[in-house]
Amino acid sequence: MKITVIGAGNVGATCADVLATREIAKEIVLLDIKEGVAEGKALDIWQKAAILNYDSKTVGVTNDYSKTANSDVVVITSGLPRKPGMTRDDLINTNAGIVQSVTENVVKYSPNCILIIVSNPLDVMTYCAHLYSKFPRERVIGMAGVLDTARYRAFLADEIGCSPKEIEGMLLGGHGDTMVPLPRYTTVGGIPVTELVSKERLDAIVDRTKNGGGELVKLMGTSAWYAPGAAAAQMVESIVKDQKRILPVCIKLQGEYGIDDCYLGVPAVLGKNGIEKVIELQLNPEESALMQTSRKHVKEVMNVLDATVAAKA
Ligand code: NAI
Ligand code: 2OP
Repeated sequence: MKITVIGAGNVGATCADVLATREIAKEIVLLDIKEGVAEGKALDIWQKAAILNYDSKTVGVTNDYSKTANSDVVVITSGLPRKPGMTRDDLINTNAGIVQSVTENVVKYSPNCILIIVSNPLDVMTYCAHLYSKFPRERVIGMAGVLDTARYRAFLADEIGCSPKEIEGMLLGGHGDTMVPLPRYTTVGGIPVTELVSKERLDAIVDRTKNGGGELVKLMGTSAWYAPGAAAAQMVESIVKDQKRILPVCIKLQGEYGIDDCYLGVPAVLGKNGIEKVIELQLNPEESALMQTSRKHVKEVMNVLDATVAAKA
């Protein structure tokens, strides 16, 4: 299997590192527009192989898409990250141009690949990649829910004093303040979380999860990378090993959850064909209302992209 990661910045390099270290793919190409950066980071990851005992090789290239040819999965992380005071949506104009050109180049050399989008604003950049790749929706998948759920699980593990591995959780909606964590579907070692954590504490954890990205931007002056890079790598793993894991991913909804033509996070089975099944949960009225609020927000940002595309035409 051949995997390409576009963008050798914080998230892209971390993703390539996890793919190599865990031997998720044999051949990994890391591409960046900045001269030498991808080559340097790829070499560094390769030099770590003898220490951590793996033999997956990462190759770095500067903007040479011919080296990405025939990739099975391509992860797109190129784009600006948030700075303090910015929302993810503030990134739309710059990142839409980057995601458009990257997608067009990727598709030229890997017409059958599966795309995993990471660049922000995530749901709308997934739309952008779908628009310019012209791939079926099953092969254009946004990464956000795996990260947001991991944050939720980490906060719950701290609250309960248990391993995050014991916590199963699901989350819907857009990647932003309108995301919809689902305590009703959260279990800890098989026990409903509502039996272990008070409603007041759960509400506080849900709020912290919604602001999880912003919390890290405030601390570090830029957005997170360890968990985002690992989250994208987990999605790649489920695809290349055909694990059929059920993960929260962003996809174009076509009637699921009563929503049409909007890119939102939902649980889905990820396997060798990309998204193999979207799972529809029976939401209660409160959860449905939150999902609709999320839809409204993402749709507004999608309209901004539509206006940019129309202006260029
Ligand atoms: P970064 O600034 O560290 O890396 C971005 C890289 O993209 C840079 O190395 C830059 O040279 C490269 N790049 C820019 N234009 C390019 C082009 N046309 N072709 C190839 N490479 C290009 O940023 P970081 O922290 O890695 O974040 C990347 C993106 O991921 C940001 O948009 C950020 O907001 C987003 N993000 C999304 C998350 C999610 O959950 N979906 C989580 C964390 C970050
Ligand atoms: C995050 O959630 C900013 O989307 C980025 O860390």
